[in-house]
Formats: sequence, structure tokens, C-alpha cells
Amino acid sequence: MTTSAPLAGKRVLLGICGSIAAYKAADICSRLGKLGADVFVVMTSSATEFVGAPTFRALTRHPVLVDLFDEPLSDRIAHIDLAQSSDIVLVAPATANIIAKLATGIADDLLSTCLLAVPTSTPLLVAPAMNTVMLEHPATRANMTTLTERGVEIITTGYGVLACQDIGYGKLADVDEIVNAVRIRLSTHDDFKGRRLLITAGPTREPLDPVRYIGNRSSGKMGYALAEAAVHRGASVILVSGPTALEPPAFVKIVRVETAEQMLEACMHAAPTCDVVIGAAAVADYRAASVASKKLKRNSTTSLTVELLPNPDIIATIAARRAVGQFIAGFAAETDDIDVNAARKLQSKGLDLIVSNDVSRPDAGFDVDTNAVTLHWPDGRSEALPLQSKRATAEAILSCIAAAIAKHNLP
Ligand code: C5P
Repeated sequence: MTTSAPLAGKRVLLGICGSIAAYKAADICSRLGKLGADVFVVMTSSATEFVGAPTFRALTRHPVLVDLFDEPLSDRIAHIDLAQSSDIVLVAPATANIIAKLATGIADDLLSTCLLAVPTSTPLLVAPAMNTVMLEHPATRANMTTLTERGVEIITTGYGVLACQDIGYGKLADVDEIVNAVRIRLSTHDDFKGRRLLITAGPTREPLDPVRYIGNRSSGKMGYALAEAAVHRGASVILVSGPTALEPPAFVKIVRVETAEQMLEACMHAAPTCDVVIGAAAVADYRAASVASKKLKRNSTTSLTVELLPNPDIIATIAARRAVGQFIAGFAAETDDIDVNAARKLQSKGLDLIVSNDVSRPDAGFDVDTNAVTLHWPDGRSEALPLQSKRATAEAILSCIAAAIAKHNLP
């Protein structure tokens, strides 16, 4: 699946303070770079006691600035230039000291001076890391409240064993969470911001014996493309996936399953907390009534009969117990009478949308990177989308879902 880097063309100013968690800033820096961001690093001098500036120079391929009088470019003033040309500013780890300086407007080193020069329209994210007592000190709490009131986003610390061996809040938030917070703030269209999506993807495998199973040709590409697109649009995504060869998209919570019954269980657990459910999985319709505990032996003279039981209909089960305001979409892979079959499934499964595709076409459906789908709505409307990449198809489907949710004023 081809994807464009989500932070391509974005300039991130990363401020690093003197906390033991400074070593994690190398991971943050590297992850932001991999997402396409151009990262510029400013370190406090105490941060350089924990990690050397050359680490960040190598990761960013830019000079790392520490001293107020470091001026790598003679025609520019570094702190003003950095502050004003960045699309976002992240301070991670942020000490009680930098939080206090930022709250009170003190500018006595390069990082604090840069932060004061950041335009108020530029998103500023602060990921604190400090001892619990320092974090809970009324001064730090008041400073953090001041920053929040000014629109600074504080990325809440984690709970655990701290460097000083105390146990409590104060650990730098997970690197994943910090990088995701940057991504969400920079996403250009964020119509799924704050929404939780449950997406099913891939085939299911129904075992016959320890080595054989009933399966299908689904690659999972459509469901994974939907998950990736939704995350880029600000959603939290749980992807319940049958066996596929695909890498899970970044920031998606993946739950791996094999059988339809396992997929149902994972979905029923996740669905009540989700605003939108999209069933893109090709769930096996039947499973073996009994699974042999030993490999079935080949016999070339007698035929083998396997009794099959129907599998539960996952999307219909979710729809039957839908949470208030939940939007539920399914897919219909068809080879004939597509419109009629899709409309019937939409109604019988109790869905808000069904997306049909003609899997007899070589360029749509199973295991290819393109798809040509039609959207069918409960009021009888249908809309055919052009043949396009599965990622573009995913974006178009999400736009239609976002519009439908907005129209019905769902929460
Ligand atoms: O009935 P059919 O399998 O064609 O329906 C397809 C839609 O129903 C897809 O959204 C698929 O993910 C979902 N489905 C399901 N559980 C099943 C069968 C299909 O959730 N057992």
C-alpha cells in the first residue's frame, strides 16, 4: 500500500530539557522524521548532560542549538527564526523549570527565549517529565493551568516507577502518544477528531484440523486503508484483523484474531465504546462443526464430508445491539445483482451504509490495490465511486460517513 508521509512538509521545533527522559527524545525525533517532518532541535544545557547534541544532529541533519548565542546562519536570528518558521512546537521532556519559565515569560536561555517567540497561533505541546512531588507541587500545577488556559496542550504524564525509584505520576507520556499528539494537531482535515472507530479487516480462518482451514482471498487492504485514513483524520482506531500479511498502520490499536467467533468476541468487547463501526472483513460464512485434534489423513478411495455450521454475522450482531448514535457500515463483496444484493444486506443487517464492490472485476476487490465501490444508503440512494486506490476509496468512504453523521447530528 502506498502512503504519503503524514507530516511531509511540516517543520517541528523540538525542545529538550534536562530530565533523564531526554534519551526518549531521540526516539520522538526519529519517529517524527519517519513521518516526514523536518525536525529542528533546541536543547537546554542540562539536557546535553543526558544526551549529546550529535545524536539529534544525526537524526535531524540540522545543527542542534543550545546556547542563545549559537547563530549558525549569519543572516538570521536563530531563536526568532526557529520560533516563527515552525508549524508546531513540542517540548519533550519538559521539566518543572521550563514549565515555570514558560508560564511566567522568563527567557534566560535559548529554549525559553524561543518559546516566548512562538506566535500564539502555532500549536505548542508540552510533555512534562519529573518527580511526582514536583509535578504535584502547587507551583507546577498552577503553571500548568496557566499554560492550558493559554491554549498550550499538556500531554499528561504516565504512572509508574520514576528514575528516583518513587512510584507515581511524572513519567514522560509514551513516545507513541506524544508523536500521535503532534500528528493530530498537524492533520489538515480532522473531521474524525475525537471519534472512536472499530474496523474489521481481512479474512477469517476456520480450522478443520491442526494444519488446514477454510479461508478466503481477502488481503485486508481495504480495511487497513480505512484504518490508516481514519487515523490521519484524527480518529482513534481499533482494527480487529484476521490473518493478513500487512503491517498495521501507525497509531492503530490492532487486535489480531483468526476465526469468526474470535472476531465477534473482540468486536463485542470494543463496539460499545465506538462511534463508528465499519465491517470490512470477509468473514467466513461457515465453520467446521468439529475440528479434528490430529491432522486428517488422506484417503484416495473415500470422499471426505465436513459438516459446516453457520458463523455468527458480526456486523448484524453489533447493529442489533447498537449503542445510541452509533454509525454502522458494512461491505458487500458481490459477483452479480450487486445493487439488489447490497440493498437486501443493508436492510437485513440493520446498517446505516453498505459499500458494495464487484469482486469479479480484476481491478477491484480481493488482493488488489485498487477498488471501485458503490455506496448504498437506507433511503435508497446509491453513489458509485470511480476506480481508484484503496486509500483514496477509504478517504471517500470516510468523507461520506462524516457527512452522514453531521447530517443526523449524531453526537
Ligand atoms: O453477508 P455478507 O457476508 O455478504 O456481508 C458482508 C458484510 O457483513 C461485511 O461488512 C462483512 O464484514 C459482514 N459480515 C460479518 N459477519 C459475517 C459475515 C459478514 O460481519 N459472519
